Amino acid sequence: MPQQLRTLALAFLALVPQICTGLNRDLPATIVNARQVQKEYDYIIIGGGTAGLTVANRLTEDGKTTVLVLEYGELSDSTSITTVTGGFSGMGDGKLMYSINSVPQVNLRNRTIAVLAGKVVGGSSAVNVMMTVRGTAEDYDRWGSFFSISSHWSWNGLLPYFKRALNFVPPNEDVTKSANITYDTSFWGNTSGVYAGWPSFQYAATTAQLDAFRGLPDVPFVKDSGSGEPGVYWYPTFMDPKTVLRSYARTGHHEQAKTRQNYQLLTQAKVQKILFSGTKAVGVSWIPVVGGRPNTSASPQTVSARKEVIVAAGGVHSPQILQVSGIGPRKILSAAGITTLVDLPGVGQNFQDHPILSPSYQFTKLTVKPSGDDLRSNRTFSTWANQVWSLNRTGPNSIASGNAAAWLPFPVISSRASALSEALASQNHPSYLPSDTHPTVAAGYRAQMLSYASALRSNRTAFYNLVLTGSSTSGLLVNLHPLSRGTININPLDPFNLEPLVDYRALSNPLDTSIIIDILKYTRRYYLDNPLTKPWAARENSPGTSTTNTDAQWTNFITQTMSPSEFHPVGTCAMLPLELGGVVDENLKVYGVEGLRVVDASIMPTLIGGNTCQTVYAVAEKVSNQHSMIYWQKG
Ligand SMILES: Cc1cc2nc3c(=O)[nH]c(=O)nc-3n(C[C@H](O)[C@H](O)[C@H](O)COP(=O)(O)OP(=O)(O)OC[C@H]3O[C@@H](n4cnc5c(N)ncnc54)[C@H](O)[C@@H]3O)c2cc1C
Ligand SMILES: *[C@@H]1O[C@H](CO)[C@@H](O)[C@H](O)[C@H]1NC(C)=O
Ligand SMILES: *[C@@H]1O[C@H](CO)[C@@H](O)[C@H](O)[C@H]1NC(C)=O
Ligand SMILES: *[C@@H]1O[C@H](CO)[C@@H](O)[C@H](O)[C@H]1NC(C)=O
Ligand SMILES: *[C@@H]1O[C@H](CO)[C@@H](O)[C@H](O)[C@H]1NC(C)=O
Ligand SMILES: *[C@@H]1O[C@H](CO)[C@@H](O)[C@H](O)[C@H]1NC(C)=O
Ligand SMILES: *[C@@H]1O[C@H](CO)[C@@H](O)[C@H](O)[C@H]1NC(C)=O
Ligand SMILES: *[C@@H]1O[C@H](CO)[C@@H](O)[C@H](O)[C@H]1NC(C)=O
Repeated sequence: MPQQLRTLALAFLALVPQICTGLNRDLPATIVNARQVQKEYDYIIIGGGTAGLTVANRLTEDGKTTVLVLEYGELSDSTSITTVTGGFSGMGDGKLMYSINSVPQVNLRNRTIAVLAGKVVGGSSAVNVMMTVRGTAEDYDRWGSFFSISSHWSWNGLLPYFKRALNFVPPNEDVTKSANITYDTSFWGNTSGVYAGWPSFQYAATTAQLDAFRGLPDVPFVKDSGSGEPGVYWYPTFMDPKTVLRSYARTGHHEQAKTRQNYQLLTQAKVQKILFSGTKAVGVSWIPVVGGRPNTSASPQTVSARKEVIVAAGGVHSPQILQVSGIGPRKILSAAGITTLVDLPGVGQNFQDHPILSPSYQFTKLTVKPSGDDLRSNRTFSTWANQVWSLNRTGPNSIASGNAAAWLPFPVISSRASALSEALASQNHPSYLPSDTHPTVAAGYRAQMLSYASALRSNRTAFYNLVLTGSSTSGLLVNLHPLSRGTININPLDPFNLEPLVDYRALSNPLDTSIIIDILKYTRRYYLDNPLTKPWAARENSPGTSTTNTDAQWTNFITQTMSPSEFHPVGTCAMLPLELGGVVDENLKVYGVEGLRVVDASIMPTLIGGNTCQTVYAVAEKVSNQHSMIYWQKG
């Protein structure tokens, strides 16, 4: 071992109070050299992303349990990751992202869609736009409802892990007062290494735009984003408020775990498949990634797991890894020349993501100052902004992608909630799935649609999300509970080396279009027919009021402009009963085999009414809590 690494390793050792067993004492925690991988670990985690690093940190806290994390990407110190200003540097850096395009979307004029996911230590938490939000309590109760009324998957069952997952640091007093930010620390914890922080500045226009929702009837205002209630609220940023840098799975979990001798991370390693002895998962095989590309001519290396293999490769790649390992729908596996170990029909089905809608509004007289426009068009303001940022890391440049949004129930935004609810309940649900869908997967879809039929009438599930910009241009508009279900299956041409076939099957359930039309109409109301936004004289740039009066015209606009992805792929290894097409049980163990779990966004059976990162952290915390660990060792 080079001297430098040896010194590093000894430094790590000095940080560990009691000497640990299991691994050679002189190993560095982060290894990039195959020769340093041991033959066997207690746990092998596939994917050093959001969930994978969280689980690895918690499992190694005892100083004894040995864990190897295998990650495709590099350990990167890129400023595209760390920079918070503007929020979007990470997703704009191609080196940090997989390069995947969806199959053409037949209901979106055959457009293909860029499938974004992080390919770096930290996974998507390294590249996301740092919006720190939860779903509503009803979203998590829905997960449990597919099992039983007493399931531990519920809002109450998850709240302790939301608290464990993040370290909430309130906004400073000045900005809290001047922007009228509300929060309630009873929904948060303060022990995690992953921070939920706040910028030290807000535009007065953001507060005014948030307040303008009071101009529309029945809009709930919620004190804290973590309360589990839908409404208009302020939410924090995945940011360490001391350093004003991104806070993510690497900084919050890997950096803690790497001081322990029982934790190792191997970067630039692409896991090929899970190895089995009978139906017990006993290890994985992997190949090196060189210059960003897997070296397919290198012979695969193997490493063994004494206790479990944990798949944490994210919503896009976890189903691929299961399928190439022989776990999935027999038909799809056979077509790709893969021998079926367990015919598990749900793997890669039930795919969901949040559709983004793109109307465009502009306030032509945004009189409230300062606004985000000042950063671009007011020299005095932008000079000041740059000054306080360079002196102090404060001011507008400490804002990532914003901190205010509306998350509204369907009855609040639409007068036809009952009608659409009834229409959804009485659909022939399986007819909207691919024709060869397995009956268990179809039964799961039906159960989800019946739950959503209630949710459409409910004031405790959010369907509508408008992110407020604080500037004259309109922000992200999202449908939080799409009804359509897609698939992510291996590519039969070369299942190991080609990216999986991602099919959103956007708008395959026609009621999605009806829901989206109501979301678009309500947004028009907020901008054009609202006494509190009237003074700012909004103009509708797109679609334009003269071209969209009929549902057919709205539908035309939707098929031309909708994107089916907010980069929140979930559902492809769903936690559901086996008879509802489930892939994992309530302990996130894969059905039909032993020693194998999936822990990442793919286990969410239904999307939550919020961006997904905080929930992924909470799921990972829940499955690796002390009781589970005892249970794991027995089970
Ligand atoms: C551009 C973008 C913006 C987003 N914005 C937000 C936001 O503002 N707020 C929010 O809450 N959520 C946001 N999200 C979503 C959120 O970040 C994800 O839901 C969450 O991070 C997913 O966590 P995960 O553990 O499931 O997967 P990931 O964090 O993606 O981890 C999967 C890891 O597995 C690795 N991997 C995959 N295949 C292999 C293999 N074969 N071998 C080895 N390693 C492998 C990957 O490289 C990756 O590191 C965004 C996501 C993206 C991509
Ligand atoms: C989309 O592609 C399908 C299959 O190639 C084709 O039949 C259909 O006409 C195309 N639709 C449009 C709008 O181009
Ligand atoms: C500030 O918030 C309070 C409570 O949410 C609200 O009643 C009030 O109208 C807000 N004031 C401004 C100026 O936004
Ligand atoms: C952390 O939370 C605990 C309990 O909620 C509280 O008593 C304590 O003051 C908090 N510490 C900090 C630094 O905020
Ligand atoms: C839901 O909210 C709407 C609008 O505020 C209201 O009319 C309706 O009575 C509420 N429904 C329930 C079940 O509380
Ligand atoms: C890939 O692996 C082969 C076989 O080990 C080796 O000869 C080759 O140099 C490797 N390629 C790269 C780019 O490292
Ligand atoms: C520009 O910004 C400065 C400082 O915030 C402010 O005083 C001034 O009114 C702004 N000018 C305009 C034209 O808005
Ligand atoms: C630096 O930040 C602190 C804390 O937010 C603030 O009190 C102070 O006024 C800032 N200084 C400058 C020059 O902006």
